[in-house]
Amino acid sequence: SDPAPAPAALIGFNAVSSSEADDIIVPEGYSYHVLGAWGEPILGSMPAFSVNNTGADQAQQIGSHHDGMHFFPIEGESPYEGSSEDGLLVVNHEYVEPRFMHQDSIGQPLNSGAVRLYGAENDQYRPTDEVLKEMNAHGISVYRIRKQINNEWQIQQDSRNRRITALTPMEIQGPVRGSAFVQTLYSPNGTMTRGTLNNCAHGVTPWNTYMFSEENWAGYFVNGGSNSRDTAQYGVRASGRGRYGWELAQSGEDQYIRFDASIKADDATGDYRNEPHCFGWMVEVDPFDPDSVPKKRTALGRFAHEGVVFAPAVEGQPVVCYSGDDARYQYIYKYVSHDNYFASTANGSLLDNGILYVAKFNADGTGEWLPLVYGQNGLTPANGYTSQADVLINTRDAATLVGATRMDRPEWGAVDPNNGDVYFALTNNTSRTEAEIDEANPRASNSHGQIVRWAEANNEQAAVSFEWDLFLLAGDGGESGNANFIGRDMNGNVLTEDAYMSSPDGLWIDKDSRIWIQTDVGEGSQNRNQFAIMGNNCMFAANPETGEIRRFLTGPIGQEITGCITTPDQRTLFINVQHPGATTAADEWANGTVRSTWPFGTNPPRSATVVIWKDDGGVIGT
Ligand code: FEO
Ligand code: CA
Ligand code: CA
Ligand code: CA
Repeated sequence: SDPAPAPAALIGFNAVSSSEADDIIVPEGYSYHVLGAWGEPILGSMPAFSVNNTGADQAQQIGSHHDGMHFFPIEGESPYEGSSEDGLLVVNHEYVEPRFMHQDSIGQPLNSGAVRLYGAENDQYRPTDEVLKEMNAHGISVYRIRKQINNEWQIQQDSRNRRITALTPMEIQGPVRGSAFVQTLYSPNGTMTRGTLNNCAHGVTPWNTYMFSEENWAGYFVNGGSNSRDTAQYGVRASGRGRYGWELAQSGEDQYIRFDASIKADDATGDYRNEPHCFGWMVEVDPFDPDSVPKKRTALGRFAHEGVVFAPAVEGQPVVCYSGDDARYQYIYKYVSHDNYFASTANGSLLDNGILYVAKFNADGTGEWLPLVYGQNGLTPANGYTSQADVLINTRDAATLVGATRMDRPEWGAVDPNNGDVYFALTNNTSRTEAEIDEANPRASNSHGQIVRWAEANNEQAAVSFEWDLFLLAGDGGESGNANFIGRDMNGNVLTEDAYMSSPDGLWIDKDSRIWIQTDVGEGSQNRNQFAIMGNNCMFAANPETGEIRRFLTGPIGQEITGCITTPDQRTLFINVQHPGATTAADEWANGTVRSTWPFGTNPPRSATVVIWKDDGGVIGT
């Protein structure tokens, strides 16, 4: 790649101010438009968006709650080189808000996230098509887009346009494949499963395929019984109903009732106890082959996978990638392939055989990668582990056993393509006590989060040790009067207004080493108390050499900004707005005063992609 330009050239725009407007605001000299909102048709009979759309309609439309995303240049052989005017956009859809999805709900005083249940108290059900629609609004959208003469982009009809949903058949690969942990009624030999859940961030492999994560899958299940380890470790509900009550679909079909994992039979393959084991993975798909079966890559571990980020592949060396587990006190992981990378033959099998490590951050600025290998470091029968599949199914417990550092909610990672430095966003952790702070997680009641950065030993990405520092302590300029809320850059300087930020989440580093940071203050906290000064969730550019940070974009009401990729020429930037209007309270919904009508000035608000360009045709960020 080209050498990085001088730092002064990295960030050339004038910062935008924080904002509470129900709008997108970009710097002077930049323009944007909205592309690919939830419900836009991309397939089949191309049903137009309506809140009356059926479940079958939704399977032909873009899903909801856009998150991680990549632009694959059309006919490209590399994920970052090729056309900057024509490509496949691949978008994750993390979750749904039923109150925005079903015509019956309009005018009803539903609580946030609530679903409508029918029937007697002990025999409740959900209308089957509502459940189907919600499942089909999850997953991944793949669709072709082309740049128009006015810099706007349009969705194209293309044979590669595709939806992957919570029902799509998928293969289980890697050490867990075929094990007793994943034998189900659907796949008695434990090689297949159905669907993907809560697809947050993503990954792009060096061999030009896409990976989607399964983050907060646990809440979709209820299990009143024998999988208590999943409850203790991952938060699978032990009573009540799953997040959306999909197991209560009126039809009683297997594809729905499987979300009640407490339905037991004498033979484990005859019930649903293993269904939760089929989730919590990174999943790979070839976006250019609409018939390709997605593959769950179990060697990368099972947890609340935020996403995965690959180090640039080096011919003849192992493939290395990094993953965060986004929950309070959870860990950062690294996978190193057993076989070496050769561009001419590389494929997803490199992700099936390797070593999964977990990070330990020492107080002196050094760090170690601790292997999670069956038979080592106490991962032995004496401690209840019986195989590598067992270690991977129970990744969180295994990482705790070997002594990993408990982090403040690891979200996205990014690797600087010019020097291999790795950055991870640690979004917040309000539970951390003074007694629990450490050098990498240095604040108690951590509302605003931080970004940690490390360099692998000897510049070898597969090394088992590293040196780290904090690139950012997010926060304010001291206005709150609480020392724990003050933000500081990598030099220890208090942040300026242009950089006030809370809860960094999305992270991406472009070809010039410009760091893009996106925020996700939870909708219950936005614009209140210590978060008021931050405004709506927004996006920043940062310079890794100087530590300078400037606010680049602010988003509408109630959303988070997430997803970040440019075209190879860096002249078009794609970002996502997820869950606009999520701060709308039940009574506001009932009386028609939904706080956000983004992007089209109509109810319901809709997640969408935003396309940004510089009016002078320059590189985004300059
Ligand atoms: Fe889906 Fe951790 O954000
Ligand atoms: Ca996230
Ligand atoms: Ca988040
Ligand atoms: Ca979120």
